Amino acid sequence: MENTIFVLCFILILFTSRVNSQTHHDNFIFNGFSNARNNLTLDGASLITDNGLLQLTNKTGYIVGHAFYSSPFNMLIKMMNNSSNSSTKKCSSFSVSFVFAIVPADLKKGGGHGFAFTISPMNKLPGAFSSHYLGLFNSSNDGDARNHVFAVEFDTVNGLGAFGDISSNHVGIDINGLTSKISADASYYIGEYGTRKEHVELESGSPIRVWIEYDGVDEIVNVTVAPLHMPRPTRPLLSFNYDFSALFKDQMFVGFSASTAKLSSSHYIIGWSFRLNGAAQEFTVSSLPITPPPSLVIPPSSSNTTTKIVKIVVPVVSLMLFITLVVALLCMYRWRRRRLSETLEDWELDCPHRFRYKELYLATKGFKQSEVIGIGGFGEVYKGVIPTTGEQVAVKKINQNSLLGIRQFVAEIESLGRLRHKHLVHLLGWCKRKKSLLLVYDFVPNGSLDIALVLGRNKSRVVLSWEQRFKILKDIASALLYLHEDWDQVVIHRDVKASNVLLDADMNGRLGDFGLARLYDHGDDNPRTTQVVGTLGYLAPELARTGKATTGSDVFAYGTLLLVVACGRGPLNPNVDNSTLMDWVSDCYQAGQILEAMDKNLNLSYDVEEAELVLKLGLLCMHNKPELRPSIRQVSRYLNGDDLLLCNNNMGHGCSLSLCP
Ligand SMILES: *[C@@H]1O[C@H](CO)[C@@H](O)[C@H](O)[C@H]1NC(C)=O
Ligand SMILES: *[C@@H]1O[C@H](CO)[C@@H](O)[C@H](O)[C@H]1NC(C)=O
Ligand SMILES: *[C@@H]1O[C@H](CO)[C@@H](O)[C@H](O)[C@H]1NC(C)=O
Ligand SMILES: *[C@@H]1O[C@H](CO)[C@@H](O)[C@H](O)[C@H]1NC(C)=O
Ligand SMILES: *[C@@H]1O[C@H](CO)[C@@H](O)[C@H](O)[C@H]1NC(C)=O
Ligand SMILES: *[C@@H]1O[C@H](CO)[C@@H](O)[C@H](O)[C@H]1NC(C)=O
Ligand SMILES: *[C@@H]1O[C@H](CO)[C@@H](O)[C@H](O)[C@H]1NC(C)=O
Repeated sequence: MENTIFVLCFILILFTSRVNSQTHHDNFIFNGFSNARNNLTLDGASLITDNGLLQLTNKTGYIVGHAFYSSPFNMLIKMMNNSSNSSTKKCSSFSVSFVFAIVPADLKKGGGHGFAFTISPMNKLPGAFSSHYLGLFNSSNDGDARNHVFAVEFDTVNGLGAFGDISSNHVGIDINGLTSKISADASYYIGEYGTRKEHVELESGSPIRVWIEYDGVDEIVNVTVAPLHMPRPTRPLLSFNYDFSALFKDQMFVGFSASTAKLSSSHYIIGWSFRLNGAAQEFTVSSLPITPPPSLVIPPSSSNTTTKIVKIVVPVVSLMLFITLVVALLCMYRWRRRRLSETLEDWELDCPHRFRYKELYLATKGFKQSEVIGIGGFGEVYKGVIPTTGEQVAVKKINQNSLLGIRQFVAEIESLGRLRHKHLVHLLGWCKRKKSLLLVYDFVPNGSLDIALVLGRNKSRVVLSWEQRFKILKDIASALLYLHEDWDQVVIHRDVKASNVLLDADMNGRLGDFGLARLYDHGDDNPRTTQVVGTLGYLAPELARTGKATTGSDVFAYGTLLLVVACGRGPLNPNVDNSTLMDWVSDCYQAGQILEAMDKNLNLSYDVEEAELVLKLGLLCMHNKPELRPSIRQVSRYLNGDDLLLCNNNMGHGCSLSLCP
């Protein structure tokens, strides 16, 4: 019975021990630590964050944090030596991999002090100091062989002589003390033969992966470091030959230790994998917790300046370019608008004959020089086509400096715009813009009478026949009659002359430019500044004295036109100085040879009665005394043969013509 109980107990013990040995871990992996609270022994400041990070320290100064895997590992294996009948211990191969991130408290000065992966006989490190001691040792046990501690330090503060630190960003292998057996600046080798070395910033806040591998046969420990997103480097950063069997006890704990001081950092372990006698499992990178809060990530120091500058400068420059572009477009738009705009005064708003400047601008192709069809005393005349209607027009551009009476004038042309007679060149409208006034007229294709007479003389064009000339003179007389008498108010033309007579397609005469001389006549309110307007030779003598245009002065000018058309020459006699065409015709008349004055280019092919009538009527209309001149109605009657003009021989200067009813 006792035996059976003993056997049962033995079996039970055997079983349990067997179960124990079977369930004993030889590997683990943490893809984040959310479910690892029971598997870890935390000490000091270390904790597991809500999102599954193992935080060894926060940014508080002078703290220590430890985290160990709760169960120890049997690092040593007993090896029998049959020949010497003794046993020796060998350290098992092991492989550890982890991902960490260090977020410094002070972005400029950097953080501190670092952390270490450690293999220790205990799952805590009592009495260890913070700062340079990394929570591993204290001043009294540092370097003590009884520590049995192996550590790989990730040191972010240069101890400046203490512990042989090489830099503030180094990786070192420590045995029992903080003076590293071997260390190197944190970096990794890449390239096919591992020839290129890349810097790793431990305090970048970015996740960094570490592989620590020990081969129990070769007794070499390798440490490899690389950013998480990089593939595993082909060469380890540190390779250290050491027999751990002398260092380790049978059972060892694996874990981490970190510390802060005046300089501090949050030290995070993100994932951790370990295996005895084999390669540590690979992480599932996608399931690793995200660390640390991106806002706390320190920008890399050197390349970040450029990045920062680029990040600031590029948007600023783009913004400036954009603003410049917008301003330029606005300026162009405003410039174009202003170029085409007109400032309207209140009174201009209700004028039905007002044209838009833009319309005229487009009609004349931007007042192109090639569109100029004439240059008069007031300014250039452009041919144009109104875009909306396709109507051909002549646009007279008056660039006069003094358009003081413009409002009054416009009021007048507004009413003149209503004048309609087949022998008038119609004023279609107007447009005032700044100091220029644009007048829009019918386009009359055959140009002006003075040109037609001159060109005829040069034989380059068919000479205007007497019939045409006589017809034109009657046309103009009817137009003047309309202005003087047939409209609801008396309109004085003020500038009747050959160049203001235009010829339409059928060589009918049309009188243009009526009322324009009014522009210069501010005389109603200030007679002394009155400027005499008209054309030399067409100017009635009393106009020079009074400055006051009347229907009589228009008749005088018309008389000049009669002579000019009949004689085919200008009003001022080019042959004799200080002699006018009127003087010459008058001389011919008094010599009884009035037809001598006729245009030689007509080759005597004219109606003698009509010719005599025109010449005599011309002289009569140019009578010195306005009251002795016929009215335009009377002139029309003579020309149309309604009345007969009977003359004595006393024509010429101051001549008195007896008008025969
Ligand atoms: C953590 O501990 C639990 C039991 O407490 C166990 O089931 C689990 O496998 C352990 N995880 C690791 C990775 O060791
Ligand atoms: C940092 O850790 C220390 C030690 O555990 C703790 O006293 C302190 O409250 C922590 N600070 C913060 C901001 O969590
Ligand atoms: C030592 O002897 C044991 C049996 O006594 C044997 O199983 C083992 O293989 C031997 N080891 C060597 C290295 O010869
Ligand atoms: C076994 O012991 C002998 C004698 O002490 C020694 O020479 C030999 O190296 C040992 N073998 C091993 C594998 O340790
Ligand atoms: C080795 O040990 C065994 C038992 O412990 C013993 O019987 C044997 O004699 C020893 N051999 C030598 C060479 O010491
Ligand atoms: C250092 O640590 C050891 C072991 O934990 C402890 O016994 C000792 O008192 C500590 N020394 C100091 C100076 O704290
Ligand atoms: C350690 O690194 C060396 C040199 O790169 C290599 O030959 C060796 O196999 C590595 N050992 C382990 C365990 O990775």
